[in-house]
Amino acid sequence: MFNLLAFTIAIHGLSAAIWVGGMFFAYICLRPSLGSLEPPRRLQLWGQVFRRFFAWVWVIAAVLPLSGNFLVVGIYGGFANVALYIHIMNGVGWIMIVLFAVLYFIPYRRFKIAVGSQDWPTAAKYLNTIRQIVATNLALGLIVIGIAASGRYWG
Ligand code: HEM
Repeated sequence: MFNLLAFTIAIHGLSAAIWVGGMFFAYICLRPSLGSLEPPRRLQLWGQVFRRFFAWVWVIAAVLPLSGNFLVVGIYGGFANVALYIHIMNGVGWIMIVLFAVLYFIPYRRFKIAVGSQDWPTAAKYLNTIRQIVATNLALGLIVIGIAASGRYWG
């Protein structure tokens, strides 16, 4: 029989895996592999990668808190009853979402404009800011997944 809570937790966990796994791949595997490309080619390629990946992250930035809050209400009867690890997940999750929104509307928007006008030094500058924010979100995301997956055994 269809179980809405089980379905929601599957969607929630898959969303976390796609977001954090995507950042891991981009930062740890793709970034060092593109180092030998000329700046115009490299920056245009990052532009195409970001356009596709960030569209998914917007969906996930909606799905994670919606499904998470649904689980808190459905399983635990509200935030007053939840264990510490859920509060940590909720707090760090919102920090990650806000950081992503800042990344999207400030350095990514400026990066796109610079790539569009072939201003490679400016594009490289904003790519570096994007990199720093993604590194922060990757670290937070790995910590949250570790806490979320283990929390029921200690929280
Ligand atoms: C934004 C607010 C969020 C809320 C309210 C929330 C809430 C929850 C709740 C209630 C569960 C079920 C926990 C259990 O029954 O033991 C859960 C599981 C999980 N959450 Fe979140 N979450 C949020 C954000 C995140 C984020 C940002 C990530 C990772 C990037 C994440 C990763 C996970 C994972 C991997 C699980 C599965 C844990 C397991 O059962 O093995 N969550 N979340």
